[in-house]
Amino acid sequence: MTSLLECRGLCKVFERAGGDLVVLDDCDFSLGETERVAIMGASGAGKSTLLNLLSGLDAPSAGDIAFRGQSLGGAKSDDWSRWRRDNVGFVFQFHFLLPDFTALENVLLPVRLAGRVTSVHEKRAKDLLGHMGLGDRIKHLPGELSGGEEQRVAVARAFMNQPAVVMADEPTGNLDRALGRELADILFALSREMSSGLIVVTHSRDLADRADRILRLESGVLRAVDNSVST
Ligand SMILES: Nc1ncnc2c1ncn2[C@@H]1O[C@H](COP(=O)(O)OP(=O)(O)OP(=O)(O)O)[C@@H](O)[C@H]1O
Ligand SMILES: [Mg+2]
Repeated sequence: MTSLLECRGLCKVFERAGGDLVVLDDCDFSLGETERVAIMGASGAGKSTLLNLLSGLDAPSAGDIAFRGQSLGGAKSDDWSRWRRDNVGFVFQFHFLLPDFTALENVLLPVRLAGRVTSVHEKRAKDLLGHMGLGDRIKHLPGELSGGEEQRVAVARAFMNQPAVVMADEPTGNLDRALGRELADILFALSREMSSGLIVVTHSRDLADRADRILRLESGVLRAVDNSVST
């Protein structure tokens, strides 16, 4: 079976005056259609770097990335941006909502970037926000929302275009435990409903345990973590 997203021999070296820093060293990874994978690892291990490469935001030093069996080629090309826009949803530790846009406008942003916003899109965005208990907050600006609410808007935005894969980089890192759990519920529920693949980077074992598979990034490569034993 073809993977949704796959990388082989991925390397990333940051060249620095004091010596090169090897962050990824011949790293392999494969995500199945609708699979949900958690990536853990120490701070500085290269988790965000890996997501940047997998989404084409940054170019690998070596290695290849393929989407549904087709190599995505060199990064930063127009093809990559189009591919990213049409297939990837992002959630970050800090929500990155546009401060002058309402919750609804923020959720509609991926559609606006891809073309024209229609009433069908508006209904979809409202439904998504309603689904998250934010039905009466759609006209609020980010500054008029709580941290947990802002992060839920960011999740709605990530799923707006029904992406093939959502990449979340410490989506609960800035939330307390209860809010973090709520957000994780929403993230996993939406990925299931929309049949999206999910790559979630997290320091939280609680969150990671919800994934189909847990991987640990260490010394530049991903290794499977035994998640049958609850810790
Ligand atoms: N543009 C860059 N230039 C040089 N070094 C970089 C650059 N980006 C990241 N690094 C270094 O690469 C390493 C991996 O960084 P990365 O942000 O991927 O770690 P991380 O696993 O996401 O950590 P955290 O859990 O703290 O978010 C770090 O040592 C970082 O300092
Ligand atoms: Mg990081």
